[in-house]
Amino acid sequence: MAGNNAVAYKSPGKVEVIDIDYPTFELKDGPGVNPANVGRKVPHGVILKTVATNICGSDQHMVRGRTTAPPDLVLGHEITGEVVETGPDVEFLQVGDLVSVPFNIACGRCRNCKERKTGICLNVNPDRPGSAYGYVDMGGWVGGQANYVLVPYADFNCLKFPDKDQALEKIMDLTMLSDIFPTGFHGAVTAGVGVGSTVYVAGAGPVGLAAATGALLLGAAVVIVGDMNADRLKQAASFGCETVDLTQGGPAEQIEQILGEPLVDCGVDAVGFEAKGHGAGASEAPATVLNSLMDITAAGGALGIPGLYVTGDPGGVDEAAKKGSLSLSLGTGWAKSLSFTTGQCPVMKYNRQLMMAILHDRVSIAKNVNAKAISLEDAPRGYAEFDSGAASKYVLNPNGYIKN
Ligand SMILES: NC(=O)c1ccc[n+]([C@@H]2O[C@H](COP(=O)([O-])OP(=O)(O)OC[C@H]3O[C@@H](n4cnc5c(N)ncnc54)[C@H](O)[C@@H]3O)[C@@H](O)[C@H]2O)c1
Ligand SMILES: [Zn+2]
Ligand SMILES: [Zn+2]
Repeated sequence: MAGNNAVAYKSPGKVEVIDIDYPTFELKDGPGVNPANVGRKVPHGVILKTVATNICGSDQHMVRGRTTAPPDLVLGHEITGEVVETGPDVEFLQVGDLVSVPFNIACGRCRNCKERKTGICLNVNPDRPGSAYGYVDMGGWVGGQANYVLVPYADFNCLKFPDKDQALEKIMDLTMLSDIFPTGFHGAVTAGVGVGSTVYVAGAGPVGLAAATGALLLGAAVVIVGDMNADRLKQAASFGCETVDLTQGGPAEQIEQILGEPLVDCGVDAVGFEAKGHGAGASEAPATVLNSLMDITAAGGALGIPGLYVTGDPGGVDEAAKKGSLSLSLGTGWAKSLSFTTGQCPVMKYNRQLMMAILHDRVSIAKNVNAKAISLEDAPRGYAEFDSGAASKYVLNPNGYIKN
């Protein structure tokens, strides 16, 4: 049986490549596996040989020790792979198919899945609605930053690429379909972006850059990206975004310089609960982004909030933050009739359309997020560089499929 190397969380700041079991069609006990999921049969699953699997800001929350993730939890929810085995209940996928896997695990049978709310499937995580591979409190499905990974409810979850050779040529773009491209796009859609919109995206990490890309694809007139990281702002400017340097203070004044007023139609939070305050050297202030988006989004507008907020944060700045409570100026949002969309992106709502946009050269998501392929063994370096603010999206290449 083939060996299976995987990237595991060890302790705050540390990931390591470890040897794990080759998957079978059963969820076995292991670090972070919910007891109620141990022994769960997965005849509807496929085993994938991983083609590409990306490091995400969501992984970093765990790796920074900001969650209750246990040591040896195998990471990786952004998975693209080749089917090497199909369970007995799989009908429509075949060995050799190349597929993108939404990071949400969804059963395809529950009320929420039937309503395309696959980010809050009711049947895959015994703790709460919603699940993902390789993530704390998500049921314990083993992560895909590995040579091989099990994907449950595979007929429902997998998006098959129409042509294998073409897919491998565009793999650095297509690998973004498992999370950040749909997630950023969802942020833009739920912020109400359409033709002619003015948009502010907080955060120039990969999700922010994907949201900006999504906003441009949706026809926004002006997309402004704010961050305190100069390299990441340069990356945003490289594909036509305006930028706001938040080391100089809040975004309103700089937005006014760009648009003639300190207001945008649409606001996107691509930062989440580890947000820093505005101004040079500001420390963590978890409500900063939400409060400033309420200030600068025009009355009647909408906030798309893909940035992650948690129910518990061992490293929270104060007692309230440790329980996931933030000091929000909700009155501002209420007075302006703003609407809010939070939560996991239901990837399946968007991944096929965005795949078509990639395959037909309508969008260059890999270039916009500065995607970089590295080997699985190099994952610890990738995590460290990404954590230090590199303006790159790291794509792991565990089985050598990626040639460029
Ligand atoms: N909802 C979903 O389905 C989903 C999916 C993927 C990622 N996420 C979340 O999206 C967020 C972004 O992910 P990422 O991979 O781009 O992470 P990242 O950590 O690389 O990027 C976050 C960026 O925000 C910047 N930042 C910090 N404070 C800021 C502020 N006040 N204003 C503007 N920028 C600020 C940081 O400098 C950094 O560049 C994370 O919270 C991640 O967990 C959510
Ligand atoms: Zn992700
Ligand atoms: Zn479901």
